[in-house]
Amino acid sequence: MEYAVGGDLLTYKVPFVDPRKNYQMIKTEIDQAYFDVMTKGDLVNRGQLKSFEKNLAEFVGTKYAVGLNSGYDALHLSLRAAGIGPGDEVIVPAHTFVATCSAVVNAGATPVLVDVGKDFNIDVDRIEEAITGRTRGILPVHLNGYMADMPRILEIAGRHRLAVVEDACQSLGSSIHGKGAGSWGSTGCWSFYPFKMLGGYGDGGAITTDDPDVALFATRMRYNGEDRETGEYHGHGFTCLLDNLQAAFLDVKLRHLPSWIARRKEIAARYRAGLAGIPGLTLPHYDRPGFDHVYQNYVVRSARGDAFSAYLKENGIEVLTQFRKPYYRHEALKLSDRGFPETEALSREVCSLPMNVEITDGDVDCVIRTVRKFYGMRADD
Ligand SMILES: Cc1ncc(COP(=O)(O)O)c(C=O)c1O
Repeated sequence: MEYAVGGDLLTYKVPFVDPRKNYQMIKTEIDQAYFDVMTKGDLVNRGQLKSFEKNLAEFVGTKYAVGLNSGYDALHLSLRAAGIGPGDEVIVPAHTFVATCSAVVNAGATPVLVDVGKDFNIDVDRIEEAITGRTRGILPVHLNGYMADMPRILEIAGRHRLAVVEDACQSLGSSIHGKGAGSWGSTGCWSFYPFKMLGGYGDGGAITTDDPDVALFATRMRYNGEDRETGEYHGHGFTCLLDNLQAAFLDVKLRHLPSWIARRKEIAARYRAGLAGIPGLTLPHYDRPGFDHVYQNYVVRSARGDAFSAYLKENGIEVLTQFRKPYYRHEALKLSDRGFPETEALSREVCSLPMNVEITDGDVDCVIRTVRKFYGMRADD
């Protein structure tokens, strides 16, 4: 696949993702969904959206799902639904995509950052020391396809009477003891950005919840506060409804998700078999009983940081390094860096290897060989 890198076209032997190939895998069904929507003229808030919402809620294990324009909108509306606003504090992990934190700021509240643990998720042992008289909520993130410790987070939240909103944008299909991500907190927040586990062909998102009031709030707020049946405005809302066409595509892809998750697990197992035991390279396998990893991302930690990722790219393997600069160190965000040693360390070391349902076992072996070569090892060492 060809990408423009600094103005040059570079061909990767193993691209990070391959949307063209993914489309070919399900072309007949996607084309049919497009045909249905276009011939019926079903562009806004129609049956395809309702069908997707029903199927998503069933998949996650909640009573309701409400389709929105992005994961960010899901977070923002969830915080507002929980009544969080100016004067309130919300606990968020120091290592996450910036949208988690921005949703708190844009709801008018103050984010309070907490370091993460070895599994990249919020360090539950550090949460209570961050709670003050103004804390109103905890916003754990299930990063890379692996859930934060929800049983302990809910126990802490219960004792301190805090709302819990799950940022599950990277973990559709993961679970703890069989209970799905996005079904633990007051809401689960989802992103259908193209390269997520379930990705649309543009932006998309949703919340899942068991609370009918929260579902109704989001259903109105995504439509400028309007109740579509009565025409009454129930507040100053937003324009953030999930497009009907995207919902039709996502409904097709959702049917494939169980087998795609199984494939991701196979790839992760292949990486593990090929890369285990290399000194200075840490693999993302935690083996915690009851915690199911669905590998949205396969993020390794290399003690050799940039040299490692540069070598892979130079040798035709497209990798991502999210995030080298923690979001709280971006000056314009005006966040305080209270010292987060694990976040600082992993930010220097993270490297996401190609992980998607388009790659073949041969591609995975090619990545493994290249990594081993970087560490001066032969394939069979
Ligand atoms: C952890 C996390 N939170 C929030 C978001 C925001 O989702 P979106 O890009 O759909 O707004 C993302 C997606 O990139 C994410 O990975």
